[in-house]
Amino acid sequence: MATASAPAIEGSMPRILIVDDEQSMREWLRILFHRDGFDVLIAEDGAVARELLAREFVDVVLTDIRMPRVDGATLLQSLRDVAPDVVVCMMTAHWTRDSGEWKSARDMGAAALFEKPFRDVNLVTLQVRQLIDARRIRHERDVLRQALEAQGFAGIIGRSAPMLEVFRLIETVCRTNSTILITGESGTGKELIARATHGLSLRRDQTFVAVNCGALPETLLESELFGHVRGAFTGADTNKKGLVEVADKGTIFLDEIAEMSPTMQVKLLRVLQERKYRRVGGTEEVAANIRVIAATNCDLPKAVTEGKFREDLFYRLNVIPIHLPALRERHDDVPLIASHFLTKYTREMGKRLSGFSEDALGLLSAYPWPGNVRELENVVERSVALEQSELVRAVTLPENLRVGRPVTPVGGGAPAASLPDSGFSLEDHLQEIERMHLERALKQSGGVQVRAAELLGITFRQFRYLAKKYQLR
Ligand SMILES: Nc1ncnc2c1ncn2[C@@H]1O[C@H](COP(=O)(O)OP(=O)(O)OP(=O)(O)O)[C@@H](O)[C@H]1O
Ligand SMILES: [Mg+2]
Repeated sequence: MATASAPAIEGSMPRILIVDDEQSMREWLRILFHRDGFDVLIAEDGAVARELLAREFVDVVLTDIRMPRVDGATLLQSLRDVAPDVVVCMMTAHWTRDSGEWKSARDMGAAALFEKPFRDVNLVTLQVRQLIDARRIRHERDVLRQALEAQGFAGIIGRSAPMLEVFRLIETVCRTNSTILITGESGTGKELIARATHGLSLRRDQTFVAVNCGALPETLLESELFGHVRGAFTGADTNKKGLVEVADKGTIFLDEIAEMSPTMQVKLLRVLQERKYRRVGGTEEVAANIRVIAATNCDLPKAVTEGKFREDLFYRLNVIPIHLPALRERHDDVPLIASHFLTKYTREMGKRLSGFSEDALGLLSAYPWPGNVRELENVVERSVALEQSELVRAVTLPENLRVGRPVTPVGGGAPAASLPDSGFSLEDHLQEIERMHLERALKQSGGVQVRAAELLGITFRQFRYLAKKYQLR
């Protein structure tokens, strides 16, 4: 049955339902509460009250306990289904402290118990008002919380069920020092979650350091993480602090953990187990006071069975697993996140755009987003830059969204000798070419990114940026 109870709006007349089997009592209470500014409803027993409550909303029920047919306690119990939010006050003329009646009424959720006859009627109306106010404040707080959820949790936008689950999990674990393993496809927000977790933790005033374990060759990664002493290797002419030391008392984010070499896996395992490490070329044991958050878009358990990732390290990392669903698994969030980026880029570019047209929203919602939130962000940024009208229209969205397919790989979409009359997107076309060459270079270099970058005459950094942009593995 639908609940008919909605909390009083501030300033409006509160509504009370008085339930008593004694007519003179009902009448007296009606006059009393009416005089005090209440809208008063009357019922002679619990059964009548229940029917009334199913139809009408009231803020508070003031009911006698002992009544024929349905008594106050039974009424209170049945209200959980009909009007779970209503404030219930009970009254009794058979009050003894140890009768147990009050305790059981309170256990069932009664907010107050009044003894009949009332010693001070003004106190009764005052207390009832205070209870209504308290409920209104609670309700406002809930509304506020919901609004906050819509705006995002620590900068993470989303209110789909799986994301709320992620927020709850972060809220639970952010104040612990437990190691967290964040998994999810590329662009789902793993780094954002890691930063947010640090920002909500007790370590938030200390440093957050992000390390991309896939970007550096093994030896460099080791000295990057643990630092080195002077003379440790050619070129090490000074002592250098490692990132573990930089992150002291703070958080270290180990991104793309699956890319770590077997040797480095052993060294990291030791840090996690013993909270100690050695600088490269050093003999001294250094204590590591860090919170570790690792992330990967790989299937780590699979890497473990394939012998590519140490099982013991996996368990040390997977203390608190947080899985970020792909954007296509939380489609409800797409309009919300798209609006968030629209506001961001409209502001940044100083444009006047108030939203998306209905067609455009339809396309955004229908698209499978293989590049997840990062791809959505790129699409919105680009559309904001290109849009000339007040709304982002469907025609402004990239072509692959309009035909409902992810960007075609090699060579597709190139126009023939002359341009089609409908025109074509130069930008999409150039991007496809760029992507095609990146893929070729990767293939030719056997997946070695440094070599692929060389083949293309670009820096490793540029290569990584582009590989990320086109979601290349
Ligand atoms: N729920 C979200 N709300 C707002 N912005 C988001 C959200 N999720 C991701 N983003 C943004 O999308 C971009 C990609 O997110 P992020 O870098 O955290 O992804 P990732 O999972 O670490 O990807 P990769 O595996 O490729 O490193 C960032 O700009 C991030 O701020
Ligand atoms: Mg990342």
